[in-house]
Formats: sequence, structure tokens, C-alpha cells
Amino acid sequence: MTILAIETSCDETSVAIIKNQQILSNVVSSQISLHQKYGGVVPELAARAHSENISYVLSSAIKDAKIDLAEVGYIAYTSTPGLVSCLHVGRVVADTIATYLNKPLIPCNHLFGHIYASLIGNQWEFPVLGLLVSGGHTQLVYLKKHLNFEVLGQTLDDAVGECYDKVARMMGLSYPGGPEIDKLARTGQNTYQLPLPKNDKTLDFSFSGLKSAAAKVIQREKNQLNVANFSCSLQQTIVQSLINKLTLAIDQYQPKTVVLAGGVSANSELQTRFLNLKHKYSQVNFIVPKLEYCTDNAAMIGVLANYQIQQKQGG
Ligand code: KG4
Ligand code: ZN
Repeated sequence: MTILAIETSCDETSVAIIKNQQILSNVVSSQISLHQKYGGVVPELAARAHSENISYVLSSAIKDAKIDLAEVGYIAYTSTPGLVSCLHVGRVVADTIATYLNKPLIPCNHLFGHIYASLIGNQWEFPVLGLLVSGGHTQLVYLKKHLNFEVLGQTLDDAVGECYDKVARMMGLSYPGGPEIDKLARTGQNTYQLPLPKNDKTLDFSFSGLKSAAAKVIQREKNQLNVANFSCSLQQTIVQSLINKLTLAIDQYQPKTVVLAGGVSANSELQTRFLNLKHKYSQVNFIVPKLEYCTDNAAMIGVLANYQIQQKQGG
């Protein structure tokens, strides 16, 4: 089964070719430099850049995969959630190819795609628990079997990536702020007292209070702010909150596999603390996707589509 997958939900234009669950190619064109001067993604510019880049990304993915377009049996694309004008570009391109080849279209959910990224090069044993941390979402997701997604908890306000990006912007760092704070945090110490968000027994998250507390410190300290120490303090607080909630969910739901998903799963401290949970839960398999599959990419959409197709075929 050969799948051509397209991802255009935010600021990465990506096309991948998946054959029998093997990634033959995964081309990602990032628009980060385009949006950097605005401090965040500008939807109209992002959609225009997708339209401009998609043709090159598509031909590169086909060339890298060393296949003929006629071999493709299914066209998968991200249908939701995301920036409407950006999703539209992906859908129109997918629809055009599907019509031309007379092959089925497979609409895919971007968030489920992030969870399925952990299956690339790894295996799951059910039940699976996912900690999904991206620029727009923060969720704990539970799967008893393939494609059976149950949201156990989620952020009540800002997403964790949004918190990283907005605080980074207040600090004068460039977009996206998550990797910038992560880099600085590694050189600093946890010296600033920040409130641990939603420190309760529920499985929901909250990051807007932490963002406001961080803003107050930045305004108070001005030029005196020790950027490395502040980054480290913020990162430690964010990661502590994520690990606390994840631990509560593991205790409650007893999963056999726990996966990290979404752009923030590239975070060094989160990866370390997540993998350290192995010592506490030795029966559980903890999976972190390879770095190239943490942030937005079409390979994860292709892998998810593969399971959706199998399920439709009754497999
Ligand atoms: O999943 P993703 O690529 O796009 C969305 O679906 O939102 O996630 C992007 C988010 C951004 O907020 C970015 O700052 C964050 O992932 N991010 C990080 C790191 N790398 C990317 N956050 C913290 N540490 C990182 N190393
Ligand atoms: Zn994403």
C-alpha cells in the first residue's frame, strides 16, 4: 500500500510517501524565517507560502521516494485542526491529485497524526497513553486500540507551546520561542520562583497563569533579568507540571505504552524527565519520536492514514 501524505496545517509545508508503513520520503519546508519578523505565524502569509512551496515539496518527495506517481494508491492530508486557509491549500492539492489518479482521499486529524508519529520505528502495546504537547494543544490521550482516541484531560487555556512562544516573545527572543528557551535553559539554574500551574489531582492543564506570572517577573526585572536562569526556571516549572499530570494518568489508567507527541516533545528537559519515568514504571514502554517526527511533518499523517485505511478494509 503506497500513500502520499500532505501536511499544511500551520507553518510547515510537508509531503511524505509511505509504502507498507515504511517512510520512503518526508520532505518538510519550514516557513519559520517568513514569520519570525512578526513574532508568530501570520495565517494569510502562511497559506500563500504553502501555495508557493507545495509544488516543489511534492516533486522532491516523489523524487526522494524513487517511485512513479502512478504507484500511489491513496492520498492522505491533514483536514483538521489548523489554520483554515492553510488546511485549504493541502486539501485542494490532495483533492486534485486524487481526482487525477482516480484514488481515494484520506482526511486525517493533525493531533492524532502527532500521536502516530511515535509508531515510526517503534511498536505499541495497548493500552497506549499519549502526552500531546504542541503549539496549539496540550492533551492526555488514551487509546485502548488503534484509532480509539479518548481525551483524558487538556489545557483549560493556553497550550504549552503557546506559553513557551509568548513568554519568549516578552523576553525578546525570536519565534518559535520554545527551542530558544530550551537552549538557554540548559545554561542556567532554577533560581526564579514561578507558580506550579494547576497543581491538583485532575488531568487538565493550565498555562495562562504561569504566562502572567512570567510576564510580571520580566517587567519587574527588566535589564536585570538573568535570561538563562529565568529560562531554566520557566522550563522546570512547565516540565514539572506536564510530568505531574502524566504520572497521575499513568497511575489511573495503567497503560502498557506511553508516548510523547507534538512539537514540544523536542524539548530536552521534557524528554529526559519523560524517559526517566522508566525507573518508576519498569513495565511500561516509553517512546519519544525521532526529532524530525516531533514537529509538524507529513510522515506522521501517512502512518495514521495507513491505519485508517486498514480499519476501513476491516483489517
Ligand atoms: O507540533 P508543532 O510543530 O506545531 C503545532 O501543531 O502547533 O509544535 C510547535 C511548537 C511551538 O510552540 C514551538 O515553540 C514548540 O513546538 N517547540 C518547542 C521545542 N521545539 C519546538 N518547545 C520547547 N522546546 C523545544 N525544544
Ligand atoms: Zn503539530
